[in-house]
Amino acid sequence: MIREKVRVKSFKINGIDVTGASNQTILEVAQDNNIEIPTLCYLKGLSCVGSCRMCIVEIKGSNQLIPACTAKIKEGMEVTTDSPRIKTNREMILSMLFSERTHTCSVCVSNGNCELQNKAHELHLDHIQVPYHNARFEIDASHKNFVNDPNRCILCTRCIRVCDEIEGAHALDIMDRGIDTRIIHDMDEPWAQSLSCTSCGKCVYVCPTGALYEKDISDEEADKKRSIIMELLERKAQQ
Ligand code: FES
Repeated sequence: MIREKVRVKSFKINGIDVTGASNQTILEVAQDNNIEIPTLCYLKGLSCVGSCRMCIVEIKGSNQLIPACTAKIKEGMEVTTDSPRIKTNREMILSMLFSERTHTCSVCVSNGNCELQNKAHELHLDHIQVPYHNARFEIDASHKNFVNDPNRCILCTRCIRVCDEIEGAHALDIMDRGIDTRIIHDMDEPWAQSLSCTSCGKCVYVCPTGALYEKDISDEEADKKRSIIMELLERKAQQ
């Protein structure tokens, strides 16, 4: 396999001159330069899938809004990370995420500690622009330590990726399509009966919402375990 040589590229983000390696994404260069781009499915140290579309940016000369987490940088490109058009689209994306499942924060284990809720705060989203779908999925509480509640899932697939890429178990996957899509264990077995799950909990601690959570645990314990996983991912990103 012929590997492309990594080169330094210069371009602009919000009118600021920046440089990065040709194998970096717009998001990585923005983060290196302390330029904020909102994300949900992205997690440093895991592969990028570009599924949530929160990180959309404008590139001069293109009509499309491009996900910054998957778009590689190019020499001379001019990127805008915030504009009325981007804001309107991010609000609609967030509205659709809220409408698709049942995100009732007041009764959620992750209330106050949820990345979806945080994004709504950041974008001042106090109501959604599309009707609620009011989906009802069965909750899997069969595992002795963990719960999978698809009603709170935003299908970011962080759980699948961390299980596959860090734990090496690939116990999780996606089943069905469209609004019926959900995260399953093995061949849609109850979590407790999964033969490939190692019960490490990594999936639980990278979940941005309350879709995967640990039973009978304090917020502080959960935070501590989450920071251990984040350190692991940080080290993986630097390799
Ligand atoms: Fe880029 Fe989700 S963070 S698409």
